[in-house]
Amino acid sequence: MALLFLLPALAFPALASCGDLIIPSNSAPDGGAGSGDDDSAAAGDASRPPPNCEAGVEPVALGCTGLYSNWAALTVAPDVQPYAPGATMWADGADASRWIWIPAGSTIDTTDPNNWQFPVGTKLWQELRLLGKRIETRFLWKEAPGLWFRTTFAWSDDQSAAPASTLGLPNARGLPYEIPAVSACEKCHDGAADFVLGFEAVGLAMPQSSGLNLQALTQARLISKPLAASPTLPGDPTNVAALAFLHSNCGTSCHNRGANAGAGQTGLFLKLTVDAQGALPATPQQTDTWITSYKVPSTLTPYGVDAGGFWRIAPGDVSHSAIPWTASRRDSVVQMPPLATHLVDQNDVLKLDAWIAAMTP
Ligand code: HEC
Repeated sequence: MALLFLLPALAFPALASCGDLIIPSNSAPDGGAGSGDDDSAAAGDASRPPPNCEAGVEPVALGCTGLYSNWAALTVAPDVQPYAPGATMWADGADASRWIWIPAGSTIDTTDPNNWQFPVGTKLWQELRLLGKRIETRFLWKEAPGLWFRTTFAWSDDQSAAPASTLGLPNARGLPYEIPAVSACEKCHDGAADFVLGFEAVGLAMPQSSGLNLQALTQARLISKPLAASPTLPGDPTNVAALAFLHSNCGTSCHNRGANAGAGQTGLFLKLTVDAQGALPATPQQTDTWITSYKVPSTLTPYGVDAGGFWRIAPGDVSHSAIPWTASRRDSVVQMPPLATHLVDQNDVLKLDAWIAAMTP
C-alpha cells in the first residue's frame, strides 16, 4: 500500500520538467507569508509539482506569472491585489476572481479618465471557475509601452497544473465552456486604449466593486490624477442595472468610440464615459448608450418582423428591440457578444427587458 501512495509523488516531477517553464516574477517564488487565496475553489487532492520557471522568458505555466508566492499551496503573493468591478463580463456562468500587480512606486496614468494607461510591468489575472473548480486563468502583462503579453492557462481537472493554452479549447473538460484562443483576446481587448477592459473608473466606482477599487486606488495614491467626483450611474435601479450591464459586457470592449474598437463603425456606443471631473451624465437619456440606441432603427431584420420595423431600442416594446434580441441568441450569426460565449445570460437579458418595457414609447 505504501508504494501506491508514493507513485504520484514520483510521477509529478517527471511531468513538471517538460512543461512548466518560465518567467518574470514580481515576487520571489515560495516567498512564504502570502495574503491567502480569497476564493472558494477546491484545491483538489493533487500535489502540485513546482513550475520550472526561467527568468526573462514569457510564462508557459501559471505558476511562473507571479500570481502565487507559493504554487503548491496556491498562496496569492502579498503584493498582488484582488479587485472586482461592480459589473463584470458574463462568462457562460463561470465564477471569477481578479487580481492586479502594479510595479512598486509606479502609478496608473489617469490623465484621461476614460483611457487609463498602465505602467510597464503591470500584470492582471482573471481566474474563472465552473462547478467549484478552476477552469482557466487569463493573464495580461505589459511588457513594454504598447506591448501586452496575453495568454490563458488551462487548469487540469485535478487542479495540479495550469499550462498556457494558446489555441483555446471549445469544450474545456467536456463542459459547454470555451477557453478562448489567444488570437481572440485582442478582438475584445483592443477596444481599450491600453488593452485593459475592466480596471477602469466607472466599474471600479460602482457600489458593488471590491478590493482595489477607485476609492482604494485613490487612497493608496496609485492613480496619477484623482477624480473630483466619483462616477455615479444615473437613473433608477432598472436604468442603472441595464447601463452597467451594457457598459461592462459590450461597451468597454467593442461598442465604443476608441480607434480600435471592433464595433466602432456601428455607431452604437455602450460605454459610459465620464467628464474631466469624473462625473457621468446626470440622466440616462444623456448617456451615449441611450442617444445611440433609443428609437434608432436597427439594420437587423429578424424573421417575422417587417424591414424597417426593428429598432436598437423600441421604447416599451421588447419584441422590436435588437439589443435584447441579440443578447438572447447564441447562433453565432447575430448573437451578442459575437464570440467566446455559448450560453445566454438569462438574468441580464431580463434586466434589459425590464429597462425597455419601462420606457415611454
Ligand atoms: C468576448 C470578449 C473578450 C475576450 C474574447 C477576452 N476577454 Fe478578457 N475581458 C473581457 C472583458 C469585458 C473584461 C472586463 C470585465 C471583467 O473582468 O469581467 C475582461 C477582463 C480580462 C482580464 C482582467 C483585466 C481587464 O482587462 O479587465 C484579463 C486578465 C483578461 N480579460 C484576459 C483575457 C485574455 C488573456 C484573453 C484571451 C485568451 C481574453 N481576456 C479574452 C472581454 C474579453
